[in-house]
Amino acid sequence: MSKLRWGVIGAGGIADRRTIPGMMLADNAELIAVMDANKEAAERVKEKYGALAAYDNEADLLARDDIDVVYIASPVFCHKPQVIAAANAKKHILLEKPMGLTVADSQEIADLCKKNGVKLGIGFMMRYHAYHQKMKEIIQSGRIGEIVSCRGQFTCWYPKIEGAWRQDKTISGGGALMDMGIHCIDLIQYITGLKAEKVFGFADNGTFGYNADDSSAVLLQMNNGAKVFIDASFNIPDLAAKCFLEFYGTKGSIIANGTLAQVEGGNVQLTVSDDSLGYDAAQNRVDTITETPEVEFGNMYQKEIENFGKYILGEEAEIITPEEAIFNQKIVESAYKTAETGVCINL
Ligand SMILES: NC(=O)c1ccc[n+]([C@@H]2O[C@H](COP(=O)([O-])OP(=O)(O)OC[C@H]3O[C@@H](n4cnc5c(N)ncnc54)[C@H](O)[C@@H]3O)[C@@H](O)[C@H]2O)c1
Repeated sequence: MSKLRWGVIGAGGIADRRTIPGMMLADNAELIAVMDANKEAAERVKEKYGALAAYDNEADLLARDDIDVVYIASPVFCHKPQVIAAANAKKHILLEKPMGLTVADSQEIADLCKKNGVKLGIGFMMRYHAYHQKMKEIIQSGRIGEIVSCRGQFTCWYPKIEGAWRQDKTISGGGALMDMGIHCIDLIQYITGLKAEKVFGFADNGTFGYNADDSSAVLLQMNNGAKVFIDASFNIPDLAAKCFLEFYGTKGSIIANGTLAQVEGGNVQLTVSDDSLGYDAAQNRVDTITETPEVEFGNMYQKEIENFGKYILGEEAEIITPEEAIFNQKIVESAYKTAETGVCINL
């Protein structure tokens, strides 16, 4: 199998924790060089993973002829200038979510990559979780009927930290909803195959006092009429938040607990109701089959890197397209707008 030669821009955070370890496991990837604004972080990551070089500016990394593709995992405000530089250097790009600070920036990023003939994929890696793939398969098979309602919660505890880019919406694009809730927005559409048509949201900061939202809730109406509720917060303790993902259809439900995470795991319960029994005024709820679907867990980041590599090599692959990522961001941006205006938006 051909190996693609990777460079990493923004190597010290999620890249070091998860994505480079995934890259090390990928059959079709080889790490060549890393770059981080913090030179010490770049050097540390280079040593840790045996890369050939470490840089503190992207121009030096992008000047290398032995790099085919870059993974960009810098803070969101750096994404657009770094994508412009990488696309102009004719490198393919796997870009972390959210793509840019605004929908307009993200569209510009997508257009430039298309114009320069470089492939662009976006890092909504939770799609590769074995349980998320399984839930998609079950829902698409019709086993729980027509989807009528979904819920998703993704939260963490994130108190004020001096200088934290995520807490300043002018350089992050948004807080809990843009950073975490956007995964639920992506997954619910991906798993159900439905698309959001209307959005209304609330988002503010009532606990920590930074300008990005530490508390948000979004209501979506989907293109089949299903209702979706998503909440994302930075002000619920990690251990208190259960981060459920729930799908309800006319024949049953799927409830997932602990699958919204960086490591594959969690529990999923499928409940199928025998609708041949008709209306039950007593609501006894005994006519159900409950099972735990079986899956084999893997590494979402390895699958993300392998799939993007296959896409570059022209092989069959599943990637997250810029169009899908821009639509996710449009939902978040619209939810923020409705939180100010109080008026529902047709997407
Ligand atoms: N898919 C996922 O699992 C996941 C998880 C966390 C974060 N993310 C995304 O990854 C991106 C980075 O988030 P993070 O949590 O790693 O942030 P972070 O702040 O933990 O790490 C960012 C790294 O980028 C470096 N950096 C800062 N400015 C830079 C610049 N101009 N050029 C290059 N490097 C620079 C920092 O020194 C740091 O090492 C964001 O887009 C975020 O939304 C994705």
